[in-house]
Amino acid sequence: MPTLDDATRGRILFGGDYNPEQWPEETWKDDVRLMKEAGVTSVTLGVFSWSKIEPRPGAREFGWLDRLMDLMHDHGIGVVLATPTSSPPPWMGRLHPETLPRDENGQTEWWGSRQHFSHSSAVYRRYAAALTEDLAARYGTHPALTMWHINNEYCTPDWGDEAATTFRRWLQDRYGTLDALNTAWGTAFWSQGYGSWDEILPPRRAHYMKNPTHVLDFKRFTSDMLLECYRTERDIVRRHTPHIPVTTNFMPFWSGQDAWRWAAEEDLVSIDIYPDPKDPLGGQYNAMIGDMTRSQAGGGPWMLMEQAAGPVNWRGVNHPKPYGLNRLWSLQAVAHGADAVCYFQWRQSRQGAEKFHSGMVGHAGERGRTFREIKEIGAELALLGPQMTGARAHADVAILHDWHSWWAGEQEGRPSSLLQYPEIVRSWHRALWEGHLTAAFAHPAADLTPYRLVVVPHLYLLDDTSIDNLLAYVREGGTLVCGFLTGVADADDRVRPGGMDPRLRELFGIDLIHEWWPLDAGERTDCGEFHGTLWSEEIQAAPGAHTVAGYRGGELDGLPAVLRNGAAWYVSTLPEPAALRDLLGEAARDAGVRPVLDDLPTGVEAVRRGPLLFVLNHRREHTVVTVPGRHHDLLTGATVESSLRLGRYGAAVLKEAT
Ligand code: GAL
Repeated sequence: MPTLDDATRGRILFGGDYNPEQWPEETWKDDVRLMKEAGVTSVTLGVFSWSKIEPRPGAREFGWLDRLMDLMHDHGIGVVLATPTSSPPPWMGRLHPETLPRDENGQTEWWGSRQHFSHSSAVYRRYAAALTEDLAARYGTHPALTMWHINNEYCTPDWGDEAATTFRRWLQDRYGTLDALNTAWGTAFWSQGYGSWDEILPPRRAHYMKNPTHVLDFKRFTSDMLLECYRTERDIVRRHTPHIPVTTNFMPFWSGQDAWRWAAEEDLVSIDIYPDPKDPLGGQYNAMIGDMTRSQAGGGPWMLMEQAAGPVNWRGVNHPKPYGLNRLWSLQAVAHGADAVCYFQWRQSRQGAEKFHSGMVGHAGERGRTFREIKEIGAELALLGPQMTGARAHADVAILHDWHSWWAGEQEGRPSSLLQYPEIVRSWHRALWEGHLTAAFAHPAADLTPYRLVVVPHLYLLDDTSIDNLLAYVREGGTLVCGFLTGVADADDRVRPGGMDPRLRELFGIDLIHEWWPLDAGERTDCGEFHGTLWSEEIQAAPGAHTVAGYRGGELDGLPAVLRNGAAWYVSTLPEPAALRDLLGEAARDAGVRPVLDDLPTGVEAVRRGPLLFVLNHRREHTVVTVPGRHHDLLTGATVESSLRLGRYGAAVLKEAT
């Protein structure tokens, strides 16, 4: 199978989504001139071009795209060619309204925006496949083509009639018999027993709370159906060009796709990341998504398909990036494994819904500060490419994450609606990041032997295989730190005996969990050395388990908040950030895991990728970092001996001097 290396060929890909159909052709020449100035090596064409290519059913207007492919090739710029199937033209909705998705209230999502297709529509799929076939036939041998980009951010669920039919088919494959389905869904509750497959609907709007396993299966189904759409197009382009890598861009930490499964179907993993420039922990968010994406790529390189050169336009208030931040976050992505640093989009639009979303060339044009920074970044990435493409970043710590658990855990009728799965995971990643420990992410059933320390922020649902995996990991010498409300439900979202799997309770030294005590927003619970937030538990420890921290005062006075049983830790609350950092730091030390560098100042990140050490200052203040030994800074050419001075948002990429 081809990989990202086949597209990068020793250079870091730099560029972005290019939507030239929004501009008169005279602009294209100017675009190319500026791309060359900026060191652009890659553009993504065609993402939203369906109505331009197929203005009428069955028509093909390829002339403009032919000219663009040639233009790019003539200037040495590679093309990531998208199948434009995420936004069907208006004629499709008008002629075939069944291609439009419906929401859970039965409302149609009309054309006039984007991503308005039903994953289950046979008509949509037929048109999408025909267009993909013709694109692949026409451009498969074009020398500019470096990669296929299928669709864009697959995300649209559908509660409509055709989706109801495919949902039943999917359920028949999963359960075989109605009896099995009724058992899995627990339909004895509230008189929900199904007597015929035709009675089953997508979980549409209902009078009161819905059956949680029904909802969980619908999320699984939606991810699988979108994946089926992806696979169909992927297989078409693969047939034409088996040597060209194929990807589809994920949204970061997005709930709608089981990205572990999806990543396994891609030749390379690509992602769109938009941290908020105003977020003081934006760098941590960027690091977390980088770690997650690298892990989906099996620890190897990945592609930053989209980021913003300045502000986005979809937050309530959209902040630009202060000088230096675009460069810092771009280098940070490379540190975390990216071999491609790309943007949405090349030239900022003058019309349409995203005209206030930044571009590499903004409304201020080539004289603008944003474009000046783009040129600086392009030049630095060109320097780094030959030194590092293909290199892997190593992590001793794994954070376990699973979409099915997220889907099951965030439903109606739960003990606390304040539990936000991504926020909890982010808190744990932040604790590791602030402790200067590089983390990977892993599925709970994955091979955990490469890691000395495994942490589980919160996995409400754990299937039997995953539980066996955790037990084996500790048995074979691993250290496990586990957050609250974990191992509660089985794969059907059925509560396990005692509210937590008995084998896990034994592992952590928990005799019984009497009750969960969720905390209110802003409430803190005293745990002696620190405060807990969000959650607490009334735990009866088993003999031999060590209470690391206990609740003080209130109903839980004297009961364990953090328990330790050998190498297995259980944390029954969400400690405040510094406390969680210290706790995971202690577990890491016990497990023999060392920070990347000792004595790093707060807000400075160090990451090793292959032979290179990235040192990144996420603060506006200057800082001095101790770096033992003698290094060359690949960005400045300077020699660094034992200490390094970094300016505001400064970065250094160090290679040991020989
Ligand atoms: C992504 C999308 C792009 C653009 C961008 C704006 O979700 O793929 O087309 O909309 O966001 O931030």
